[in-house]
Amino acid sequence: MDNDTQTWLTRANTALIRYPRFKALHQDIRECQEMSCLSNEPHCLSLEGVTGAGKSTLVRDYAALFPRVEEKAGTRIPVFYIETPSPVTVKGMAATMLAQLGDPAAHSGTLWAMNFRLVRLMKACRVELAIMDDFHHLIDKETNRILEQVSDWLKVLIKETCIPFLVVGIEGKVNCILEANAQLSRLFAARQTLEPLHYAQTDDASLQEFARFVQYAEEALAIALPDTLPRAELLLRLHVATRGVVGNLMNLLRYAAWLTRQQHQNTIALPTLAVAFDKRLSKHLKNQPNPFISAPGEPIVTVPAPQATAELPHRKRRSSVAEVLKI
Ligand SMILES: Nc1ncnc2c1ncn2[C@@H]1O[C@H](COP(=O)(O)OP(=O)(O)OP(=O)(O)O)[C@@H](O)[C@H]1O
Ligand SMILES: [Mg+2]
Repeated sequence: MDNDTQTWLTRANTALIRYPRFKALHQDIRECQEMSCLSNEPHCLSLEGVTGAGKSTLVRDYAALFPRVEEKAGTRIPVFYIETPSPVTVKGMAATMLAQLGDPAAHSGTLWAMNFRLVRLMKACRVELAIMDDFHHLIDKETNRILEQVSDWLKVLIKETCIPFLVVGIEGKVNCILEANAQLSRLFAARQTLEPLHYAQTDDASLQEFARFVQYAEEALAIALPDTLPRAELLLRLHVATRGVVGNLMNLLRYAAWLTRQQHQNTIALPTLAVAFDKRLSKHLKNQPNPFISAPGEPIVTVPAPQATAELPHRKRRSSVAEVLKI
């Protein structure tokens, strides 16, 4: 692989698009961090979203604003990011956190001793906010039951350290864990969801936000989307193909851009989007027909996301582009 391609790949895989909802959530997290400094009870926050919504990207980007620093007085970790292990136990969680805080004997000692060191270390590192990603691992995969010992342990940890926590995970599951423990639920008064990007004809703001996101993605990937069909129709097809989920959208565009570069072109062709959809999204978005194979103006089959179909009988809806775009 030549240097140019390597540079492009790095940029394509790391480019971050800070769209309005992304920035608003940054602000919510900052409020929790700052308000807790002025309070005797931490203001915790939860963040939910479907897989690929961009939750981890968002919170890692936030944590990167507050890097760990080595000072004379010791290590300072203003924002402490942890991935919840799977399967998770109280001891496993405590050990993971201790290891990340730099405890050389993270896995040893009784649970009581580990907890004691954890509280002491979090305070010594002057942690202002702890972020627990993949919090839904507190639901046991085998039994689908909430691991109450872990959630109870977390409640005690929050109370003892008086440090706010941001818990992040799959939509529905995070709130379900919090609701199962009244005291934990009270600590997490603020609850947010990172929703997929919308594209509703009745909501101009949603059309603009989606259009702007796609435009930023084109700039970040240094590639143009096809102009062989009207932009509004292309955006609609992209939305249908990805359900507005940022991870799906980036996955599709990155791969299509990669194929286009291999052909020494600067503009992605519609058939290339069709190939990228087949290779990168069709297995994940089961039942969604490829929206890039129909000719301009032809009908696009849209299949609702699984959450919506869970309650409704599964039914494919065939609507013409003109009908969807109301032209
Ligand atoms: N704001 C963004 N700008 C550019 N790319 C993004 C953005 N947010 C997410 N992505 C891309 O989308 C993909 C999925 O993001 P991420 O892993 O953050 O999703 P997630 O919600 O944490 O998913 P999961 O629940 O499966 O962990 C990643 O490849 C990431 O690079
Ligand atoms: Mg994630």
